[in-house]
Order: sequence, then C-alpha cells, then structure tokens
Amino acid sequence: MVETFPPNPEPEVADWVPIYQYPVSQLPTLPTTDIIPTMIKILEELRQEIRYHNYCYYVLNNPIVSDYEYDQLYAKLSELEEKYPDLITPDSPTQRAGAPPAEALKRVQHPAPILSLNNAFSAENLQEWLDRVAKLDDRVRETTFTVEPKLDGLTVVLHYEDGLFVQGATRGNGVVGEDITENLRTIKSLPLRIPPALDGPEPPERLVVRGEAFIRIPDFEELNRRLETAGEKTYVNPRNTAAGALRQLDSAQTAQRPLTLLVYQIVAGTGNLPATQQETLAYLASYGFPIPENEHCQTLEEIMAVCQTWGERRDQLDYEIDGVVIKIDDHDLAEKLGVVGKAPRGAIAYKFPAQVVTTRLNEIGVNVGRTGVLTPYAILEPVEIGGVTVSQATLHNFDFIAEKDIRVRDRVRVKRAGEVIPYVIGPVEAVRTGEEQIFIPPATCPVCEQPVEHIEGEVPWYCVNAACPAQLIRNLEHFASREAMDIVGLGIKIVEQLVRAGLVKDVADIYSLKRDSLLEIEGFAAKKAENLLLAVEASKERPLARVITALGIRGVGAAVSSDLVLFYHDLDALSKAQFEELQEIEGIGPNIAQAIVDWFERPANQKMLAKLRKAGVWPETAPRAENQQLARPLDGLTFVVTGKLTEFTRGEIKTFLQSQGGKVTGSVSKNTDYLVIGENPGSKLRKAQDLEIPIISEEELRLLAQAK
Ligand code: IVH
Repeated sequence: MVETFPPNPEPEVADWVPIYQYPVSQLPTLPTTDIIPTMIKILEELRQEIRYHNYCYYVLNNPIVSDYEYDQLYAKLSELEEKYPDLITPDSPTQRAGAPPAEALKRVQHPAPILSLNNAFSAENLQEWLDRVAKLDDRVRETTFTVEPKLDGLTVVLHYEDGLFVQGATRGNGVVGEDITENLRTIKSLPLRIPPALDGPEPPERLVVRGEAFIRIPDFEELNRRLETAGEKTYVNPRNTAAGALRQLDSAQTAQRPLTLLVYQIVAGTGNLPATQQETLAYLASYGFPIPENEHCQTLEEIMAVCQTWGERRDQLDYEIDGVVIKIDDHDLAEKLGVVGKAPRGAIAYKFPAQVVTTRLNEIGVNVGRTGVLTPYAILEPVEIGGVTVSQATLHNFDFIAEKDIRVRDRVRVKRAGEVIPYVIGPVEAVRTGEEQIFIPPATCPVCEQPVEHIEGEVPWYCVNAACPAQLIRNLEHFASREAMDIVGLGIKIVEQLVRAGLVKDVADIYSLKRDSLLEIEGFAAKKAENLLLAVEASKERPLARVITALGIRGVGAAVSSDLVLFYHDLDALSKAQFEELQEIEGIGPNIAQAIVDWFERPANQKMLAKLRKAGVWPETAPRAENQQLARPLDGLTFVVTGKLTEFTRGEIKTFLQSQGGKVTGSVSKNTDYLVIGENPGSKLRKAQDLEIPIISEEELRLLAQAK
C-alpha cells in the first residue's frame, strides 16, 4: 500500500489541557470600550474548548469534564454572545438550532454523483462480483478491502470550506439533493468546524464528505417514552423518525430528535486526498468526524468471516444495520472499474436476511398503561424473524391502524430489528380474501369496562377510571419506583398480588397495609411482610418533588416535579394551581398544565390525597419568595456542586439554588460558601477541606434553604 497519507493520530485525551484560561465564574467584567478584540479572542477560546468537549463526548464517547462543567462553559458562552450578538459566528456551538424556520427546502447540486450500491445476498454473490471486476482489471486479485457496517439511516452530504461547515444536503436523486444545513447543525456529533482539536491537521480549503444520519435505538426508545408521558404520538421506528427529522422546515423540531452521524466517504476536496478507503477513514477521523467501525480484509474468506460476525452482532448493536458494505480499498482502482447504473463496481452491499416477514394477524389486543393510555397490539400467527419467534407486535396507536388500514385476519408485514420491539409495518392488501374485518377501537376499557375518552386532536385514547385495576397496577408500580417513592421490594409482582387480593384499591392504601393481611398472600412469610412494611414506612419521608412524581400525572416526571416544588410548597398549594398560572413555569405547556388541573379535579384522586395526608405523606418545602426583590434564603451565598446527586439532576440543583438566591460556580475557591456533595465527590472535596469550606449534602442544602 502506498503511504500517501499518514493517518493522523487521534488527539490524546489525557494530554488535553483546557485552553480556556479563565475560571468561568471569574470572567473579568470588561469595560465597554476597546473590548471587542479581547472579546473576540475570549469567545473563540471558549468556543474552541466547548467544541473539543463536544468531540470528546459525542465522537470519542469519552468526556473529560463533567456535564456540569460543560453546562457552565456553555452558559458562559451563551451569556457573552447575548451581550455581543455581532460577534456570534456560524460555527459557534450555540448555533446548532437557532435559525428561523424555512419556507421550503432549497435544492443543492452535489459536486459528484451520490451513488448507491448493488446488493449481494450470499458468499456466491460476492464471489461472482469479485470475478466480474477481476475480469475488468487484474489488480483486483491483489487488492485489499474495507468492510463497514451498512447503517440503516439516511445519506447526508456535508460541505466544509476552510474547516467551516457551510452546507449539508440529503441525497435526493443522487445529482441534486435538498438543503438541510440548519437541521444538520443540530446533530451534536457533526463538527461545525474541523478539526475540533487545536493540534489537529490544517483543514483543506474545501471538503465534501458523505455519511449516514440515524438515531440510536436507546435514544429512539427514550424519545418515545418522553412522548408517551407527554401524551403525544410516538414514532414507529428509528429510520422514519430520522428521515422526518432531517427534512423538517424548522430546525428547532429537528433538535428534539436525537440524531447522530457516521461519516465514511470523501465526495470531493482540495489538497492531498487519501488514496485508499482505510486512509480515508483515518483522514476523516483525524478531522474529528465520527467514523464507522471497519475491518481491513485481504481475501473473500476474511470478508465472509466479517460479514458473519456483523450478522451475529446485529441484534446487540445499539443502532440498526441492514448489512455490511465491502469496498475495494484502492480508490484509483475502484474509480477505474466505473459505474453501472447508479452503483459503483468497486463496492457492494452484503445484505443480511430480511428482518421483515409476513404473517397472519389473528387478533388485536389492547393494553392499558399507567396513565390510562390504551395501546393496541397485534396477536400474530407465530413466525420466526432473525432466529426469534414473534407472536405479538406493537400497532402503536389506533390512528396508525386506521391510517394503514390494518384489519383483523389481514396478512401483515412485521419487522423485528435489533433491540426494537417487533412492529407491524402494514397489511399485504393484495392477498385479502374478503374475510378481513375493520378494527373498531373499544368504547370501553378492556380491563375495567368503563367508558374510554378520546381528547380531540390527541392521538391516545384513555381509560380515565382511576380505579381501573390495570391502571392501578401500573400506577402503584410507578408510585413505588426508584425515581418516585423508592419503596424497595414493591415491584410489579407484589403490586399485582396486592391489587388482585383486593388489599389496595388506590395507591394510598399501601400505607394502611397490615402484617396479618400480607401474610395471607402467597409467598409472604413474616420477614418479607415486615420488610415491605418497613420500606413503605420509610417512604413517608420522601421530599415533595418525589411525591409529585409518584402521583403519575401525565407529563409530570421527575424534572417537571422539581420545577413545581419551586412554586408550590405542598400538595394543597399544587392542587389549587390554575391552568394559566402553571403555564408560566418554564417547561410546562398547555398539555401538562391541563393534565395537572384535571388530575386534582378528579374525585377519586382527591380521596386518595386525603388518605395520603392522613398517613403522613405530606411533605412541604419552604414557600418560594413571591417577589424576586424580596430577600431569598440563599441570597449572597456561592455554591459549588460535585459528585453524583440523588435528589436533583445537575440542572435541577442549579435552578433550585438560583431560585433561592444562591450563585453556582464551577470550582472551589476561597469565595465558595458551601460545597454540596453527592456520591464519589473527587478533587473538589479535597480542595474544600483544604480551604475549610463547609461541606453539605443535598438534604442539608434543603434544610439550609428552609432555615434561612
Ligand atoms: S458507501 C459509492 N458505506 O447504503 C458509495 N454506504 O445503497 C456508496 N450506507 O444510500 C455508499 N452505510 O446511504 C456506504 N458504510 C457505508 C454505508 C452506506 C450505509 C447506505 C448509503 C446508501 C446505501 C447503499
């Protein structure tokens, strides 16, 4: 192999010294004259540092600062840019989602055709391909290959000028794509400037690269969970979600979807470009692009072994792939082999067996979730997909069934991919016999048989009967969960037993459980019953935010609850909150505000609250000062937070401290009044001890705020 391009070593994380010289909290207050050149320099240093941290986090998966420190740098940059808007640059990390919505997507001419690939399905197909190309050029017999996963996402084409990301496009028809620059800016692993490290190579004058944008499966699931709790429509699969996100007219919408990126090809560029695919990947990595895993192979046997390994790994990956791509390494040779139709001869996709099969949909079942949402699912004629027998698949929601016209007894196409729950894609209409029946959503809850509700304009259908056993089981499971009341030992199995035995009719009933009645339940011995009662008793001490989370109000998770306790000091106060007033709180929109009001209006919930109060589950927080002008408990005090917190997230504790008048800084100095520590504190603890600064826990912080 000719070494035309020495692969650039990845920047050594351990060697990185923050280039930003000012402690963030102590940035000089600068005079208003002659400040611009200094400010330009400070802003650029700050951006460069943030850019590097983004790269470590999103590309190398190896952050070197805590989220908290990162947030502080970012907040400082935003604050300074707000003060000096003329100094904002397009490659600033703050400019990932700031552009106004577009009217329509503009067209972009690609600098070279964006080709697709021909497919192979077996070792024979690959052998035929090799024989075919070897006949065209003898060098094929001597060449090597790069094998990469075939990512199941969307092609994107990224343009850089002097290292600056200037334009991004979809593939379109391969010649002309659509301008999705603003949407692409929101992808955190996409470098807005290359290279992101100061010691990286000089950027070429012009570079156009191609990669795949996609959504990782855990991020997709997290997104759907969030949408579900907010009572919104969930997405069908990662690929469609990514496709929709990329073509949004409003990049703020794209920013809500957790897109990511891998880059694998240079479409055009100036300067000394790599001669092989191996060097291309090293070149791209040296500029800070995230690249796919890859193998360098010499023979068809080696290629087949890699194909097999990827096939086996497919289900464990956190992203979807539909095959692997085999590329002749030598670009010159690959180019000489030419193109057939829209596919280059020098590369081929080895496709895995389909993960889509067809089978009969025998019945449509309906599940009832914690918030009462009814979710339909398909009961299928069992079928094997990728080595796993599938007999149920999700149908998402009733609108989906209607939109796709899925009928009972239809032959349907079902997909199972990686970790994603199997789902029905749609019916095979061509093989209908006339026996298929249109599905009508149930008018009553399949569990408690009470009428269901459908709010106009919303996708989900709800069972609103708080006493519905299905809901009660899920409600109680949620109530006892770690992020809520954290009742150790009260998992789903025991919850089901308690509800079935009639011992619990609403969640508050767990506080009146008796040892004797527990002993009557199968599997309950004295010790188990006592432990459960102790755990229930201990949960009475949980702070207000956790109790609010535990109520299971639609859209009100831990983060919203922590915001609510800043404004409402107990459940009484929250129960009187008005719809308009709730919406004033940042992060609470009309849906959540309405859900809160509705929840407290329901007589069954009022009854349950009365029981909670009687049981002593009625925590209070210090009332918030109505007026910011009034003295607040932590006025004038400076805090540093370190370690893993249990009650708050980093964002929440910051909001809390600030709402009480406190100031939060990133590093311990003699100006620090308190160090708040979580688990595994680290070097800040030592520093605080050296400086004899008081060290307090989260709990002590609350007490401090209340006592002052
Ligand atoms: S190479 C000429 N490499 O698969 C080079 N494509 O039809 C052609 N894809 O639309 C592309 N992962 O979006 C290449 N590692 C990879 C890929 C990859 C996914 C997609 C690409 C293209 C389709 C092939």
